[in-house]
Amino acid sequence: MKAVAAQDVIPLVDLKAQYRALKPEMDRAILEAVEDGRYVLGPAVARFEEAFSRYLGVKHFLCCQSGTSAIALMLQAAGVGPGDEVVTTPLTFFATTEGILQTGAEAVYADVDPGTLNLDSAAVERAVTPKTKAILAVHLYGQPADMDALGEIAARRGVLLFEDAAQAAGAASQGRKAGALGRAASFSFYPGKNLGAYGDAGGIATDDDAIALDVRRRRDHGCDIKNRHLILAGNARLESIQGAVLGVKLPHLDAWNAARRRHVEAYRRALAGIPGLSFIAERPGMASNHHLFVVRHARRDALLEHLRGQGIQADVHYPVPSHLQEALGPRKGRPGQFPAAEKAAAEVLSLPLFPELSEAQLTRAAAAVRAFAGA
Ligand SMILES: Cc1ncc(COP(=O)(O)O)c(C=O)c1O
Repeated sequence: MKAVAAQDVIPLVDLKAQYRALKPEMDRAILEAVEDGRYVLGPAVARFEEAFSRYLGVKHFLCCQSGTSAIALMLQAAGVGPGDEVVTTPLTFFATTEGILQTGAEAVYADVDPGTLNLDSAAVERAVTPKTKAILAVHLYGQPADMDALGEIAARRGVLLFEDAAQAAGAASQGRKAGALGRAASFSFYPGKNLGAYGDAGGIATDDDAIALDVRRRRDHGCDIKNRHLILAGNARLESIQGAVLGVKLPHLDAWNAARRRHVEAYRRALAGIPGLSFIAERPGMASNHHLFVVRHARRDALLEHLRGQGIQADVHYPVPSHLQEALGPRKGRPGQFPAAEKAAAEVLSLPLFPELSEAQLTRAAAAVRAFAGA
């Protein structure tokens, strides 16, 4: 096969294109953070926390080192720990499970809805036991999970409801922002996210003063006052440069998400009617931020190989569901336990999607999918 020239490769995301568009403003903000001299949890972080809490419509937003640490800090601050169970989805990045296990609690899985691939609330109901302390919903690919149904179960069964909003910056459910839909929410600002830092970063959103105070301590060695350690915690502080980067990007988030939506609509038109190809269902009232554009195909691996051979950097989110990951050791589940999640893991494929994606790139990617299907 002929090698694809570098300029003809279509990346899954193009972070350099976004930097080029923001360069003067971004360079100034980063330099300011360097000149300021307060390099960790400095004023640029505080300014972003204030701006993002306003954007989400929550009382508190606290930055930390990553989306994974945000999950652990949020759950620990709400009292989740050894002896507790947290019900979550097996179809997510494995960090959702890691964050739960870091608290000492057990992760208990419930299957996903085969259309949206978000948690199936009936399956969640069946997974709740007397040991369940919390439900951790993931807004997969940026579409909010059914927080109304999950909230009803949580209230009736006396458990807490949290969001892993790592993929959902700017998404909304019935006009309310993802991140403001549960007791607290964790975010990841990993570079490839819709709102991404220039390194690792994350944070926790909540209206709950006690959770916010506890997170504030836990991210910084369990202290309010230097050398007075109130909780055995550790270090999950964010660097000020990342706060500066996020502060420059936040005002652009809605426009970027709108551009993503236009691309998704164009993809859906271009890919309509291809035999064997299907889309992820969108529920009414849910405004996805379109973190990923995911299609399904029974011959996914062959489709992936075909696209990559043409320089189209499609990818898979996620090929191995969490309950089947080796890292779980004796906790590892069995194939067949969560059929909808396992079928999706074998069929999903993410096509290139980022705000700066050109019409020509999109057309070429869609044509390559169509050619594979012979349609
Ligand atoms: C659903 C989900 N949860 C958690 C994480 C973990 O975030 P991080 O990589 O910032 O630790 C990610 C992303 O990486 C994610 O997609």
